[in-house]
Amino acid sequence: MEFTASIAEVRRLVERARTAGKRIGFVPTMGALHAGHVSLIEAAVRKCGYVVVSIFVNPTQFGPGEDFERYPRDSAADRLICEQAGVELVFAPDVKEMYPQRNLTWVNVEGLTEGLCGGSRPGHFRGVATVCNKLFNIVRPDAAFFGQKDAQQALVIRRMAADMNLPLEIEICRTVRDQDGLALSSRNRYLSTEERADAVLLHRALVKAESMIRQGQRDCAAVVDAMRGVLASGRVDVGYVQMVDVETLKELATIEKKVLIAIAARVGKTRLIDNIIVDLNKS
Ligand code: PAJ
Repeated sequence: MEFTASIAEVRRLVERARTAGKRIGFVPTMGALHAGHVSLIEAAVRKCGYVVVSIFVNPTQFGPGEDFERYPRDSAADRLICEQAGVELVFAPDVKEMYPQRNLTWVNVEGLTEGLCGGSRPGHFRGVATVCNKLFNIVRPDAAFFGQKDAQQALVIRRMAADMNLPLEIEICRTVRDQDGLALSSRNRYLSTEERADAVLLHRALVKAESMIRQGQRDCAAVVDAMRGVLASGRVDVGYVQMVDVETLKELATIEKKVLIAIAARVGKTRLIDNIIVDLNKS
């Protein structure tokens, strides 16, 4: 496995692989890798002959007062995980390499970024879309892999790729969870033992929602109320609980066939998100 912080080196190595006829797979991350990231890497390894992982804690997607400085960074462990998962190239640039001068050009995906996490994190998706666009231009992958865990992010990137005619496929992979259901996240490292116990309530609320819907409940407000009840049984500070259209992310009043149910909440100081899709066409 190769490891570099240099854009020029990435271009050189990827070009060599492309010339050798390899399909290029790409998994962008902010590091502190866990089994969720590994599942994306494994999907990329299955579908592509040359897999690139980027590790970059992107300052432009963090707001003032958010956790950019203290975001977990563990380069040695990340490298080992990538090596064992079959990655060919790790790209871990510093901020100067990615942003040599103050950015004047931004990628703004309208509509999809206004609700859910966009409501409380202004500028977040602009930072995400911009850095992904930059990374796509550096790596020039045939396919890029994103997690359903960050459902809004995955849709935003897929839409950016379509709107900008980027020549790549965006693959969205299922959420990997701990045994008790908590969605894996680099930020779970912030949780104390007590907070970890409360964090599982996000998943419990989603499970409750799915079971109500499968038993015939179609009124979104009733489902949201019940979910808030589950979350209120611990020390969970709810940001949003929403039932939205799986494509437009517009809020729904009643459930027809398919719904994305999304939660953001703070447990202690840690902001967690989770979601599920309930599709009544599938059991
Ligand atoms: P990061 O939080 O490191 O996540 C990188 C990728 O891993 C994202 O596509 C995310 O959805 C996926 N992921 C995280 N937890 C997961 C889980 N439990 N199961 C499945 N996939 C999971 O998301 C980012 O970084 C950044 O915003 C980035 C896209 C790299 C841009 O900076």
